[in-house]
Formats: sequence, C-alpha cells, structure tokens
Amino acid sequence: MLPSNLSEVAFTNTSEATYVQRIVGGEVRFPSHSKSCFLLYGKYGSGKTTLAHMLPTLLEHQNAETSERQDNDWQYNYRSDATSVTPANSGKPALLPANFNIIDCGSHHSNAAISIIQDIEKKSRSDLSMVLRAGRFNHFLIDELDCWGEPAQAKLKGLITSAPIWNVFYITTNSKGKIDEGIISRSIKIELNGRDQKFYLEAVKKHFPHITSYSEKQLCEIINACDCDWRQVEDMMNRL
Ligand SMILES: Nc1ncnc2c1ncn2[C@@H]1O[C@H](COP(=O)(O)OP(=O)(O)OP(=O)(O)O)[C@@H](O)[C@H]1O
Ligand SMILES: [Mg+2]
Repeated sequence: MLPSNLSEVAFTNTSEATYVQRIVGGEVRFPSHSKSCFLLYGKYGSGKTTLAHMLPTLLEHQNAETSERQDNDWQYNYRSDATSVTPANSGKPALLPANFNIIDCGSHHSNAAISIIQDIEKKSRSDLSMVLRAGRFNHFLIDELDCWGEPAQAKLKGLITSAPIWNVFYITTNSKGKIDEGIISRSIKIELNGRDQKFYLEAVKKHFPHITSYSEKQLCEIINACDCDWRQVEDMMNRL
C-alpha cells in the first residue's frame, strides 16, 4: 500500500499539505537559498520515508519540459515497489528521478558519517545542466538523522549550507528534538503524526476491496487501534 499523490499522504496539518502542494506545483520557489531541505518528522509508520521517496519525483515532474511530462509515466520506487504519480500516463515509459541517493543513518555508525558526508559533497558538486530526463536536481534522502550524533549533524549542516542550489535534502526523524537546530532552520518542516480516522478509512476502502462486509464503525475501531501507523493498518486489513 503506497500513496500515488499528495492527497493520499497523511499530513497532520492541512496548512502544511497545502504548502507542499504549492511547492511541487511550482508556486513557491524551492529549493531556494534559504531552504533546500524537507524535515519530515513524526511517529513510526506514519509515512515519512514514503513521502521522502515521492517528493523527488513530484519536483522533477514539475520542473520538466511539457513533452517530458506528457510522454512518460512518472514513478517513485520505495524498496523496489514502483508507484506511478501519473496514472493517466500508464503504459508510457516509466521515468524515475535520475539522481536519487538514500543515506540510511540508522545503518551506519556516527563515525562513518564523515566519509558519507564527503561522498554527498562530491555528488552535490556535479553540475546537472547536461543531464536530460528527470535529472534537474540531486536528491538526498537522509533517513533517520537522529541516529547521528552532534558532530556529524553539524558537518551535514555545513554541507547543506554550501551545497549548490540544485541539491535537495529530505531528512526524516522520529525525534525532531534530536535534530541540529541549524538543519531545522534550513528545512521546510512537515509533521507526520497521523490524521483523522476518516482519512485512513478512505485509504483502506481503496486498497482492500475485500473489507466491504465490515461496517465503517468496525473499521474505524480497528484503525483507531493502529495509532496512525500505516504498517499496522495494512497488517490489520490483511487479517480481516
Ligand atoms: N500515505 C500512505 N498510504 C498508504 N500506505 C502508506 C502511506 N504512507 C506509507 N504507507 C505504508 O506504510 C509503510 C510505512 O511507511 P514509512 O516507511 O514511510 O513510515 P515511516 O514514517 O518512515 O516509519 P519509521 O518512523 O518507522 O521509519 C510503507 O511501507 C507503506 O506500505
Ligand atoms: Mg522511515
């Protein structure tokens, strides 16, 4: 179960949902000199890493030529599961962001962070102006940044500050309090701490057609017990 557009993402605050929509719709300049990161924070399983995989595709789509937009089926890949954000273009060649890098902070010790940051720095310097097809930006997903200590985060903040404008960083965390204040200042903050039951109800009706024999009240009770964790929601629906 993966969302295929922003309206299926469980943003906690409607104003933030609208803001992200305006960014990927090209109404707000992003990345800019002041903000080149998204900080996606909130509970386990609320959809942070998923959104961090989808946003690069939406940004590339927005910045593409009209023909590029029309002639391709724009997708994002989360753990090798491809999801289209342009279902109307189904059957056309699949297109993914050309420069998408995932750094899983949880699987590296903080000591390794410096060499990882040096690697990001090298990639962030390469000028993308000659790259065609969905490659206008370098996208760096820095997953679970709270796993890195203060020195590594400070170094990352320095890198973000000096990285050329075509680099975008997507930072996820369960603990916003453990993130460097300077990184927070450079980020558009998006809270993912769950939505109302009705939102999840619509999603499960779409993804699990076999649940029609259950009443909305029964489904809402189950959804409630999942505490806004999509993994639990999916597991519970599969059990029905
Ligand atoms: N908007 C959504 N609609 C339906 N399913 C979703 C949605 N977002 C995420 N999921 C499902 O929930 C699972 C968990 O999402 P994700 O890995 O993004 O959570 P997370 O917030 O990063 O969790 P953690 O804090 O544990 O890293 C995904 O594998 C996906 O199957
Ligand atoms: Mg995650």
